[in-house]
Amino acid sequence: MAINEQTLASMREIVARYPQPRSALLPMLHLVQSAEGEVTTDGIAACAEVLGISPAEVTGVSTFYTMYKRKPVGEHHIGVCVNTLCGLLGGDAVYEALSERLGVGHNEPTADGKFSLERIECQAACTHAPVMTVDWEFMDDVTPTSALDVVDRLSRGERVESTRGPVIRNFQASEHTMAFPDDGLAGEGISVDAKMLAGLRYAKEHNMAAPRSGQEG
Ligand code: FES
Repeated sequence: MAINEQTLASMREIVARYPQPRSALLPMLHLVQSAEGEVTTDGIAACAEVLGISPAEVTGVSTFYTMYKRKPVGEHHIGVCVNTLCGLLGGDAVYEALSERLGVGHNEPTADGKFSLERIECQAACTHAPVMTVDWEFMDDVTPTSALDVVDRLSRGERVESTRGPVIRNFQASEHTMAFPDDGLAGEGISVDAKMLAGLRYAKEHNMAAPRSGQEG
């Protein structure tokens, strides 16, 4: 589908934020995903034209980062971290349960287009392993049962909140936030909790400090 005028205008708005136009490419690709549900060939051509670079350069970036999808994503993107800590604490079992329930494998959408499932890498949220993301919002400390409950509730169209507070919208809405982060939603939910601060608290209690630069070892 050709990129519409409104999306092109939003691309130019993003470009205006940066001293170097091509620095805008990452949020522009998120904008394409918010409009198209994936990084389409037309979206790549539009980014290239607005930035004055080649479609091959845009394609190179869009195929390097796994958050950019070259095939349609479901209404809700479900990510399950299967890196070492999450995997050992149950992430693999969560992924298997979801794969069986949804009938899809890695990076596949369900037949009804409602969900896409993906094995994802560490989300820097290991304190709450195993971690699942729904449209990139965190579901902390999940189990196979709690993960299935989330997709069941979303299937029924029920309101679902991430464990850190924000209400789950859909993949394309989250992608728009990636392009335009100043959407007024940044204050939703918690920023830190006791589990996240446990290491810092322990270090303070034991007078521990990181070595100054150049004093390592
Ligand atoms: S290993 Fe899963 S969030 Fe870090």
